[in-house]
Amino acid sequence: MVIPAEIRDEYNRLGEQKDVVHLKDFARWSYISGADWTNLCRRSADFAGIEDGDRLFEAGCGSGAFLAEVAAYRQVTLAGVDFAENLVAIAKSQLPGDFQVADITSLLTVENGSYDKVLSHGVFLYLDSLDAARRAVLEMVRITRPGGLVYIGIVNDPERHGSFDHPPSGSFLFTRSFWRDFAAEQGLTLELIDQDRIFSKPSGYDCYSRVRYSLLLKKP
Ligand SMILES: C[S@@+](CC[C@H](N)C(=O)[O-])C[C@H]1O[C@@H](n2cnc3c(N)ncnc32)[C@H](O)[C@@H]1O
Repeated sequence: MVIPAEIRDEYNRLGEQKDVVHLKDFARWSYISGADWTNLCRRSADFAGIEDGDRLFEAGCGSGAFLAEVAAYRQVTLAGVDFAENLVAIAKSQLPGDFQVADITSLLTVENGSYDKVLSHGVFLYLDSLDAARRAVLEMVRITRPGGLVYIGIVNDPERHGSFDHPPSGSFLFTRSFWRDFAAEQGLTLELIDQDRIFSKPSGYDCYSRVRYSLLLKKP
């Protein structure tokens, strides 16, 4: 079961590590190699349509591991929030940008329509209810400019995980129909993709791509 306060404590503990050399290792991505991480992040950025000049915001940015890879790939500006203050402190110390401590379900300090692309990579699997997901994605859509994109990466897929004998961490709350209903209700265009079409490896750690998916919402 996912308990948000425990998730926050766990990520704050990771943020206390002193001997970590790669930003991704503060964010429980230590099983994936540096080269695979770069590949995963770049392929995700391509799926999210990230281009030079984009103003990016990440909901659940952690130490900035994903954003750092995107910024090395494209000329973008960075901003983000995370509820683990130790990780936000690391992001602030390592990356240029506006990083704040906040829960992604309430982005009160962020203005409407202020970003081209609003991302959340490997975060929604830690939400504990459909209601929390709804509040978070509504906030993401709100702060995206008209014509901009919302990317939600790496969601556990309840329809696929039965075929896998070591289920990955986090919730399995979000069926694809949850996003289809949300997109229809809000007048957004939705693209859903199996995570292994973004990044996969025949052996070794691939972030459990076989049992996850990602999605893109386009704001009219
Ligand atoms: C696997 S890490 C991913 C970090 C970053 N997105 C990346 O890919 O490098 C998950 C992050 O989600 C954050 N998180 C989980 N639930 C959150 C919430 N409700 N509000 C803000 N941050 C949250 C955790 O603190 C953690 O930093």
